[in-house]
Amino acid sequence: MNVNVIKMQSTHPELDAIEKAGQILKAGGLVAFPTETVYGLGGNALDVNASHKIYAAKGRPSDNPLIIHIADMESLELIVKEVPEKALELASVYWPGPLTMIFPKSDLVPYETTGGLDSVAVRMPSHPIARALIRAGGGYIAAPSANTSGRPSPTSAAHVIEDLGERIDMVVDGGDVQIGLESTIVDFTEEVPIILRPGYISEDMLREVLGQVRMAQGLIDELDQKAPKAPGMKYKHYAPKAQLVVVEGEEYKVTAAIKEKVREHLERGESAGVICTDETYEQYLPGCVKRIGKRSDEESIAHHLYRVLRDFDQEEVSFIYSEAFHTPRLGQAIMNRLVKAAGGQIIRV
Ligand code: TXA
Ligand code: MG
Repeated sequence: MNVNVIKMQSTHPELDAIEKAGQILKAGGLVAFPTETVYGLGGNALDVNASHKIYAAKGRPSDNPLIIHIADMESLELIVKEVPEKALELASVYWPGPLTMIFPKSDLVPYETTGGLDSVAVRMPSHPIARALIRAGGGYIAAPSANTSGRPSPTSAAHVIEDLGERIDMVVDGGDVQIGLESTIVDFTEEVPIILRPGYISEDMLREVLGQVRMAQGLIDELDQKAPKAPGMKYKHYAPKAQLVVVEGEEYKVTAAIKEKVREHLERGESAGVICTDETYEQYLPGCVKRIGKRSDEESIAHHLYRVLRDFDQEEVSFIYSEAFHTPRLGQAIMNRLVKAAGGQIIRV
């Protein structure tokens, strides 16, 4: 494999290498890089051809808009028409960080980047490598998650290489990402801001700053996808090779139900896997049982979710049963991704 990978510590961006990566971006090339949420596939957001290349490399439908990544507040002005006061307040609390905000776009932003929309999604990441690279690349970096469309977002450089390999010019390897789930997206183009995608910044954290905020309809009822506000919501999401089912309810009932399901499959000569936590691991029979993290440390569950889903694609199992993870702060975001991967299949016990 011939992809150009440069490795560095996430806390210490190596400026020579970053400068080189920045030149690639300025010249219209593609560079994958770590952010605090997931790895992004970067291209110059103001260059129509770079946007085309991003869509082609990911195999992404061209009406699914990209997020523009900036490194400082001054950069915002050029790409948006207006920013409501509430959004500035939110930025002052959570930028740089895992938050994306949507505003009416300025004429400078090509429709190729926004999937034909008059609005633009903007994020200011906190990851030191991301921030250095955005600056080196000209200040406006469009970056969707650096996975092939329809696969889990990459949380390590190995995932990026697995999916995109030679289709991109460079991968900056800064090790595993910290959060493991994509940013929270809040739409500010309507009176009351709307959460289009839950993430590390939770609904409660948003409400504390914004007062009023509401969940997008498609998120409240996962199966009502009639008119999704984020075009990305209408596309089929990652589904593992095996059929994934989420089991929710009281812990002892969930583990009992999963054990029973697995037993039934084994009796029929079928193979089945389990996604559980450190707290429940001992209760399952040895076999294809993967621990996602600790219930007492919800960040560990978010952190490992995509890796566990990717790992299951390497296993010869036909069914996967996952415990539900309605943890206090990140549960909404974790369950949003898990239930999508399960195609909405939930058993309540
Ligand atoms: O954490 C993240 O946000 C990562 C890292 C790399 O920054 N990026 C990411 O990008 O998750 P992507 O392209 O995989 O997801 C962006 C989502 C899509 O569902 C897209 O439809 C939505 O944001 N989106 C982008 N621009 C939008 C707009 N103007 N209006 C509504 N939805 C938008
Ligand atoms: Mg994505």
